[in-house]
Amino acid sequence: MIPIIKPYLDEKELEQISQVLSSGFLTQGPKTLEFEKIVAEHIGSKHAFAMSSCTTALHLALVVLDIKPDDEVLVADFTFPATANVVVQLGAKPVLVDIDLDTFTINLQDLENKITKKTKAVIPVDAFGCSADYDEILKITNKYNLPVIEDAATTIGTTYYERYCGNLTTMGCFSFHPRKVITTGEGGMITTNDDDLAEKIKLLRSHGGVKKGAWFEYEAAGFNYRLSDVLGAIGVAQMHKLSYLINRKRELADELSQRLANIPHVQLPTNPKWGGHIYQSYVILLDEKINRNKVIEAMKSQGVETTIGTYALHDQPFFQKQFGYKTGQLTNSHIAFTQSVTLPLYPQMTASDLDRVADTLKVAIASA
Ligand SMILES: Cc1ncc(COP(=O)(O)O)c(C=O)c1O
Repeated sequence: MIPIIKPYLDEKELEQISQVLSSGFLTQGPKTLEFEKIVAEHIGSKHAFAMSSCTTALHLALVVLDIKPDDEVLVADFTFPATANVVVQLGAKPVLVDIDLDTFTINLQDLENKITKKTKAVIPVDAFGCSADYDEILKITNKYNLPVIEDAATTIGTTYYERYCGNLTTMGCFSFHPRKVITTGEGGMITTNDDDLAEKIKLLRSHGGVKKGAWFEYEAAGFNYRLSDVLGAIGVAQMHKLSYLINRKRELADELSQRLANIPHVQLPTNPKWGGHIYQSYVILLDEKINRNKVIEAMKSQGVETTIGTYALHDQPFFQKQFGYKTGQLTNSHIAFTQSVTLPLYPQMTASDLDRVADTLKVAIASA
């Protein structure tokens, strides 16, 4: 079976982990600090805080913005549910915003239309390694004085007009889940240039405690959202490979696109005008006359693993029950949810793997 993704791990991660194990210090410590420094330097942000996941990063980002019950937070609809679940967990209301089908990122017109007096923040989502259009997003949010949290789960190392994702808005939140370009197993990070927010993140990430002499004093009701140093160590080794992994993914995406160019009814992923796509996932969009689920099944039967792109939140039972959304209400996001397919793309792929993915897709489309 050709899998969708394979993490790229070798003795470099083992060497880093063994340093932590032999130190006997396994909670957040020097390796996590090193990981944070490398990420901050790479993307050019003033602060970076390793977290236990992107979900906890997004949650804490909303907490430090003081999002309260009944506030509204605009969230791009085509995303993993975590992006909006964290809003719900604060008692606030996620207001779902449609996307554009060329980049799978937030639609600017729908974003502006949905701003109300209750709107307190916006979470655009970078899609599959591609940045959303932040210059245009910020033109809108600055008019209304709204903070922006970038869900940069898929965009470590992605650029937007030469600037790095995670360093484009009020805060950026990364994921290091194994489906991402680099992984720590589970893990995330919040990046920001705002000193006040940084201070709050640091305090609340670890129980709200401040070291005073030998003890802590607890100044706030915080969380334990820390990353273990064992995982921080993996992050250090993975960050050293980031440039190689991104170059390799871009090269493979290009080669796969050449093989798929003449298959009818398929929209291939494109690098938008702001560039910088890292192809965390290689996601195609099928014409509506093609039965997407049949394509996924047919490819699986031929030993090629694929899956949907991601979810349209307004189509999910929870968001329908809780907030009254109806299936298909956000047109583009619904099409993306029902017609997208993620194809395998990982650094260890060979030319013959790419041939097999392309040939299998061709046959599957012809019969779907
Ligand atoms: C866009 C997006 N946001 C948030 C998350 C949640 O990330 P994590 O698994 O690190 O909590 C994911 C995970 O897949 C994601 O794709």
